[in-house]
Amino acid sequence: MEKTRRELLRDGSRAAAGLAVASTFSPSNPLGVAEALAKSPKLKRPGFNLGCKSLTAETHLRHLPVDGKMPRWLTGSLLRNGPALFEIGEERFNHWFDGLAMLHAFSFDRGRVSYRNRFLRSSAYKAWKKEGRIKYSELATDPVPDPCRQIFSGVSTMPVLGRIPNANVSIEELAGEFRALTEIPIPVRFNPKSLKSLGTDGAVMQGRLGTAHPHHDPATGERLSYEIELVPPSGLRIITEKRGRRRELAFIPQASPGYLHSFGLTKRYVVVVTQPWNFNFSKFLSPDRGPIITNYEWHPDQPSTIILVDRKRGGVVRTFETDPFFAFHHINAYERKGRVVIDVCAHKDAGSIDALYLKKIRKHNDVPQARYRRFEVNPSTGRLTKRDLIEAVFELPQKNYDAVNGRPYRYAYGVGLKGNGSGYIDQLVKADVKKGESKIWRERGVYPGEPVYVPRPHARHEDDGVIMSVVLDGRRRASALVVLDAKSMHEIARASVPHHIPFGFHGLYTR
Ligand SMILES: [Fe+2]
Repeated sequence: MEKTRRELLRDGSRAAAGLAVASTFSPSNPLGVAEALAKSPKLKRPGFNLGCKSLTAETHLRHLPVDGKMPRWLTGSLLRNGPALFEIGEERFNHWFDGLAMLHAFSFDRGRVSYRNRFLRSSAYKAWKKEGRIKYSELATDPVPDPCRQIFSGVSTMPVLGRIPNANVSIEELAGEFRALTEIPIPVRFNPKSLKSLGTDGAVMQGRLGTAHPHHDPATGERLSYEIELVPPSGLRIITEKRGRRRELAFIPQASPGYLHSFGLTKRYVVVVTQPWNFNFSKFLSPDRGPIITNYEWHPDQPSTIILVDRKRGGVVRTFETDPFFAFHHINAYERKGRVVIDVCAHKDAGSIDALYLKKIRKHNDVPQARYRRFEVNPSTGRLTKRDLIEAVFELPQKNYDAVNGRPYRYAYGVGLKGNGSGYIDQLVKADVKKGESKIWRERGVYPGEPVYVPRPHARHEDDGVIMSVVLDGRRRASALVVLDAKSMHEIARASVPHHIPFGFHGLYTR
């Protein structure tokens, strides 16, 4: 007798039954799973490549099957952002950073979990639906030139940017509004319940990049961010905003602006770490410029530079040079006894960006590895020291943001991989920077995403809460939301989704 969808979903919560669940869905193939199942998993890491496979269906599942006991105090939603469409017809996006943005929401209600996903209605999404092609430039993908189409907007060497960016990197909650962010500094607003896109509040500026990781300071009510001007007069602009009023804290001229993805914040300083992966504007102006990312060049003979900007008075306080390294993510920063502590996920060089081309990820099943690196700088003496804090590889960092951002802290959570060898993310890591130790959660054949920390109501300790991570279960060939006790890193509960969710980037929990 054929099972109902609900029964199948319930069965799907058992890893061993996962294949059966997906197969039974195949007649209508509503979630694109059957095609993946048909392929024999001869990969180094079975099921892994589903993480870079498009998910085209938008769905709403009211009751996910739950293993374990989902805490009843969870009453909000985990919102996630990431790429979900990696090709349009015969045209392919080149890089993991390029796929069309999809929002995901796991919502909690008295131990039950629902799931919804929806593409962001970006200009790129609309071009997919209406014209069936890649029409706009992404970081590492340009539209296919076609003289019959008006693809260049005035200046032939400029990338073709849509009015509504493909904001596939992160999510921000600002004054009750939810915004999808990327490095084109125009947020796209959306409804956190329906995930419907609500448009933008500005126009895309050619030649300007921003950050998908702004900071919010609850003590001052400020939102802090930066902009990078790629077109001369080029440079880095540090910005603070409060109740809609915007103030420039510093403009740091840079002839060849370096790539930046995030920054740190302390009580007194904005902390920027520039790296010698610089934008070559001359190359960008040439007819064979290629997508934006291909115009950056790594200069191993040049230093990385830590820049402290005064939050109150504005201006650069001091800069510190160190050996070149590459970082996407700051973990935390704070002041201690006249020094500034800056923790980052440090990569060897910008090869980490190259390694994330989709062809390479799919072929090698590897990702670049970062170290949990601490810099301490003294603004009075100019002295800089550095050391790695834990042994484990550490990326996509999260922490108890409201309690410890910009302050002394003990714990951070990230993804890593066993043994520090080559491979893809296969474990979650809790770093204890006081002891220099880490706690690990891992499960064979399971690839976890960014761990989001959610404090328990009235929590008394920094790690009194849970960790949420969307994992791809390679054995079940489908994804799940895993909830861990943040103290022990033991699994508490798991809500299973009947299809795969492509590897995403960032998200947040909202009550
Ligand atoms: Fe990021």
